[in-house]
Amino acid sequence: METHKKLTIGLFGFGVVGEGLYKVLQQTESLNASIKKVCIKHPGKARNAPDELFTTDKNVLLFDDEINVIVEVIDDADAAFEIVSIALNNGKAVVSASKKMIAEHLPEILQLQKDTGLPFLCESAACASIPVIRNLEEYYDNDLLHAIKAIVNGSTNFILTKMFEDKLDFQSALLLAKQLGFAESNPKLDVEGYDAVNKWTILLNHAYGIVEHPNNILFTGIQNIQLSDALVAKEKGLDIKLIAQAKKLKNGKVAAFVLPQFVTLGDPMSFVKNEYNGVVIESGFADKQFFYGKGAGSFPTASAVLSDISALRYNYKYEYKKLYHHKPHELTNEYYVKVYLSFDDWKYIPREKFEWIEEWHADAERKYLIGVLAVQELINNSWWKEHQTSLILTADPIIDNLDIIHLKKRSLELAGVI
Ligand code: HSE
Repeated sequence: METHKKLTIGLFGFGVVGEGLYKVLQQTESLNASIKKVCIKHPGKARNAPDELFTTDKNVLLFDDEINVIVEVIDDADAAFEIVSIALNNGKAVVSASKKMIAEHLPEILQLQKDTGLPFLCESAACASIPVIRNLEEYYDNDLLHAIKAIVNGSTNFILTKMFEDKLDFQSALLLAKQLGFAESNPKLDVEGYDAVNKWTILLNHAYGIVEHPNNILFTGIQNIQLSDALVAKEKGLDIKLIAQAKKLKNGKVAAFVLPQFVTLGDPMSFVKNEYNGVVIESGFADKQFFYGKGAGSFPTASAVLSDISALRYNYKYEYKKLYHHKPHELTNEYYVKVYLSFDDWKYIPREKFEWIEEWHADAERKYLIGVLAVQELINNSWWKEHQTSLILTADPIIDNLDIIHLKKRSLELAGVI
């Protein structure tokens, strides 16, 4: 049996995650891993670690032959990409938590792993403490993975829980998410869905072999959700969550998006509160499986980094089986979704764009409708997120292209039009 390697770590970043990792490593001596140096941006800050551990010179870590692992948990995606590229090219294994960097540079990151043959592990970059990447990599066969539905951003889930269950206003809930170390340093990334779509880009790669830029995936955040939406949800016995979803359609292509969605109270997603994340995987024979755990915060994120470090001791690498050993899936926007839209004035809503409208409520100050739209319409236009219009998908929103004609006819019959 191979003896476990000694890991000498160069750590980039000593913020919420970096400091968490430092503390966690001190408590796990059995791992045979130690941090030799930490590279930071601002040397003046008081830190809970000896001064001699820190440097501001990245090359001290990247060109130290004794350091065989670079752990990178910094905020700046461009700097992170440079560090990862140099580290891999210098023969060092890499553990990264930079979801934005990985999502935006996925083709290059894949190429670097191919060229160097070195491990690049990033379990903490999606759903923090939930081991979802390794599960998708190792457990699920391409053909069996029918659908995935997930809450992948802790801050927005925390804000929605605090607003709708504890009656906190949006700003106070966001402030709390920042204070607890859940939110990004630019919280717009959380609130407007960027962080979630970055994580979804990474998970789509491990689940289906899809290599797509996050800009090409339909997404928004929770910025337009109103209290009146929560009241409608309550009336109908539903919750509102920011849901990342992917589903294999009948033509074999994958529909994928990150949008607010109504979930039934029996849906596991409804059980996911505060900074927790959850993932439901639907596969051929197992049916549904639900993964649940903390999706943000210092120790939960550090725990995933630690697990990656531990996996390096036996030279674990992602094989990207869905990309290299199977026929990778393609993303498609050729499908329809059933949506709820609330808005201040009809003039903001292009009614002719709907395939059909099932319900409209025009009396209250805040109006709403339920109808069916082509996803391509949402991709090509932004009227649905302007003027505080709030779009929330219905509980079972995806309508396959092949079903639309039948459903359209049925809806017109019900409306008494034909
Ligand atoms: N801001 C992120 C979140 C941190 O709230 O989910 C964890 O990736």
